[in-house]
Amino acid sequence: MTPDVRPLVAGNWKMNGLKASLAEIAAMRKAVDAGEAGAAELAVIPPFTLIALAAEKLAGGSVTWGGQDCSPQAGGAYTGDTSAAMLKDLGATYAIVGHSERRTIHHETDSEVRAKAEAAIKAGLKAIVCVGETRAERETGLEYAVVTRQVRESLPPDGGPDTVVVAYEPVWAIGTGLTPTPADVAKMHDSIRRLLGEIYGANGAKVRILYGGSVKPSNAKELLGIDHVDGALVGGASLKAADFLAIAAAYR
Ligand code: 13P
Repeated sequence: MTPDVRPLVAGNWKMNGLKASLAEIAAMRKAVDAGEAGAAELAVIPPFTLIALAAEKLAGGSVTWGGQDCSPQAGGAYTGDTSAAMLKDLGATYAIVGHSERRTIHHETDSEVRAKAEAAIKAGLKAIVCVGETRAERETGLEYAVVTRQVRESLPPDGGPDTVVVAYEPVWAIGTGLTPTPADVAKMHDSIRRLLGEIYGANGAKVRILYGGSVKPSNAKELLGIDHVDGALVGGASLKAADFLAIAAAYR
């Protein structure tokens, strides 16, 4: 945790969820609005098809929401893409950019990720910029070099605590049940914090740095209690309200 920084627990639903899943979102809202979810901000990042419907369920409450990606373009002939302004129009607060699944499957580069983050901010969203090394990179001792490059080249230089969230997600920990040791998480988040200071000066101290990768109710308290871990980006365990709320309960 970082003093005076409100943690964020964000649920990235990835390509999961049909209309029936809106009941989970309604249950999350109920718990949060009843004051039962603890001190963290909770955000749901459903697939694009559910955002407008989720927004209806969440309007007027305290759970925030967002998109899993956005186009670097403001609008026009970009079939299949979604602009940041379209997300903002639905009341979104966040756009995830540079998730490792997009970096890997869609070959997104740091400069594209930065352009997306800049587009998100320009539209009035906060960009959740994902970074993280692969298993091969960690095994060859390249994790700091890779994450340093990603942070320096993917983050918008004009951002700050109100517009940027960093999510450290080691690729080898995503969906595998594996997590780095608390000492490894602490060391990487400390390194990211120092880089944020280089990029944003004193404001870098207040930018939230989330940990992501196999966060679940049983390990949330330990992972979220680490210095400079200001919340979690949760995949699989965010699909069910009970699990997601049990993770957020680390901040009770
Ligand atoms: P899991 O929590 O399923 O490992 O996914 C993490 C992730 O990629 C969130 O963006």
